Amino acid sequence: MRIAFCCTNTKAEPWLQGLRAALPGATVEEWAPGAPQADHAVVWTPPQQFLDEQPGLRGIFNIGAGVDALMKLELPAGAQVVRIDDGGMAVQMAEFVCHALIRHFRELDAYEDDIAQGKWSYRKPRSRAEFPVGIMGLGVLGERVAQAVRQFDFPVLGWSRTPHAIEGVECFAGAQQFDAFLVRSRVLVCLLPLTPQTENIMNRGNLAKLQPGGYVINVARGGHVVDEDLLALLDNGHLAGATLDVFRTEPLPAGHPFWSHPKISTTPHTSARTLREESIAQIAGKILAMERGQAVAGVVDPQRGY
Ligand code: NAP
Ligand code: GLV
Repeated sequence: MRIAFCCTNTKAEPWLQGLRAALPGATVEEWAPGAPQADHAVVWTPPQQFLDEQPGLRGIFNIGAGVDALMKLELPAGAQVVRIDDGGMAVQMAEFVCHALIRHFRELDAYEDDIAQGKWSYRKPRSRAEFPVGIMGLGVLGERVAQAVRQFDFPVLGWSRTPHAIEGVECFAGAQQFDAFLVRSRVLVCLLPLTPQTENIMNRGNLAKLQPGGYVINVARGGHVVDEDLLALLDNGHLAGATLDVFRTEPLPAGHPFWSHPKISTTPHTSARTLREESIAQIAGKILAMERGQAVAGVVDPQRGY
């Protein structure tokens, strides 16, 4: 069995070593143009040329949860695309979102500013009931985030494409229930995949439906946010702030207003990192299962785009 590794912005050697150790019977090599046909591929944003040269792939294993970049490419007809299914990302996402939420709710930035100015001052405690948290996307990551937020006694709402039932979470589904979800939410967390249906979903019209003093946490993809609409609603006071981990162009271009806006906290696409060892173990297990003809979790539906 031959495995081709084709991941941009990724140090190949530790992955190759890990995959070889986990799949001792396989030949695992970094792809270069003209390389022999492989059975499976381990990829992150591969060039179209790679896919064009590998028409016989059976499995394409994306080393992240989001497959939006892959879905823009022409894929070999017989290949199943498989995303990382948690692999240690869900707990990271839960801690990141809870941190952003609590930092905002408890006004920790304001306290830090006060302390920096030598001020020992108190703010009035805020009521959790006034900070309902709406989570867009109740998949592998969104459901874990919803459960974590619930532990802090915030009202939690969730929105997905198909109906879900999660204890302690008021669930909404589909386009027809989107507005009802938005108007009840004050903090909006985005954990949707980026698809033609979800692109630009955080636009002026939708963000304006959030409760006054709304707060946005985008940990999915930059393409979900219309940058100028978010800025307009922050500047007119409807939104109190935003934590943004992902951007339309990454790295965030120099001079982009998100770098320095006083109501925006940014991080460099780091809310849930791919963990190499966990991911290698998961991918190797799935390759072996596929070779035995078994179904595996995390197979992407190209029609849905996630
Ligand atoms: P997932 O398991 O595929 O879950 C996606 C969720 O979005 C599902 O609940 C799905 O609904 C819902 N959804 C999809 N299209 C929708 C639509 N049109 N309307 C309403 N709901 C829709 O994905 P995941 O593993 O949770 O990951 C989510 C995203 O997080 C990834 O796609 C990736 O872009 C992003 N991510 C970011 C980082 C980071 O470091 N910033 C790390 C990992 C992942 P159904 O349940 O009904 O299908
Ligand atoms: C990271 O953004 C991922 O999709 O895993």
